[in-house]
Amino acid sequence: MKQINVGVLGFGTVGAGVVRLLVENRDILRSKVGADLHLKYVADIDTETDRGIALGDGVLISDAHKMLDDPETDIIVEMIGGEGIAKEFILKAIRNGKHVVTANKALIAGHGNEIVEAARQHGVDFAYEASVGGCMPIIKSVRESLVGNRIHAMTGILNGTCNYILTKITEEGSTFEDALREAQAEGFAEADPTLDVEGGDTAHKLAILNALAYGMRINLKDIYVEGITRITPLDIAFAAEFGYKVKLLAISKNRGDAVEARIHPTMIPLNNPLSNVGGSLNAVTISADAVGDMMLYGHGAGMMPTGSAVVGDIADIARNIMTGATGRIPVLSYQPEAIREVPVLPVD
Ligand code: HSE
Repeated sequence: MKQINVGVLGFGTVGAGVVRLLVENRDILRSKVGADLHLKYVADIDTETDRGIALGDGVLISDAHKMLDDPETDIIVEMIGGEGIAKEFILKAIRNGKHVVTANKALIAGHGNEIVEAARQHGVDFAYEASVGGCMPIIKSVRESLVGNRIHAMTGILNGTCNYILTKITEEGSTFEDALREAQAEGFAEADPTLDVEGGDTAHKLAILNALAYGMRINLKDIYVEGITRITPLDIAFAAEFGYKVKLLAISKNRGDAVEARIHPTMIPLNNPLSNVGGSLNAVTISADAVGDMMLYGHGAGMMPTGSAVVGDIADIARNIMTGATGRIPVLSYQPEAIREVPVLPVD
């Protein structure tokens, strides 16, 4: 059986979820993928903390370049996050002919056009299902299953941390600070939780979805963004009195030659299914010409749900490697020369 060597960069919460699945479900992956996904390296500056996962000798390393420079590494999984060193490592991996999987929405929203172009030039796959919606297969749905649709609109709860906080305040009377601390302890929040509560993380995700749904270049800067920090328990109580729940929504509408895209807290009537999406769960409704309305729902954050989406991408790439079909759509998002410049409308 063909062995495909995987190197994981970053052994934090999601990195550990990926490693756990690759180690503990290696047999399942072998039978379903038809290749042996071999975890050759895990790189992290912290090689001391016990993550409770048995790794072979020499797997855990502190020098990321060792896996990036090893000609035997087939797939690099970037789990560091942020736009600094993560970008540097991804571009180096691509230049070295390695396929890349990431969950890094900030990086894709900020530099995705450049990274996709680099991957295309070097004929490697670049996959990022876990960047939006945790385990929900939203990227594959929008990019692949719905590719023949004219997508009219998307509305979603895309940040597990905010949804967890709003649910805790609504259902248990928690304070904002306590609920945020719990979300951090559960491993849902970003290293800088401002990105969650101020809406930036949701904007990153909507920018990615817009690009795939509407066939446009990634445009983050024009999305209107308002987070949940100004929502008070009184707002939530009043909303409840009138039959609404408060959720942080990502909303985008296709206006043909422009897109309207915004992130803000919204009052949702209790008969709308999005109002029942609680805890760290995420959900997205999509409206499109061929399929009508559809909805995806699942755990949007956390170690194992996000790890699951990452491993799905690793398996996709492994299948591409085995059939000699790497560097093809659909793992790459689009043909750069065909992407449209679509303005994102300002919101008053
Ligand atoms: N901080 C993110 C969230 C992680 O809470 O949704 C998953 O993208």
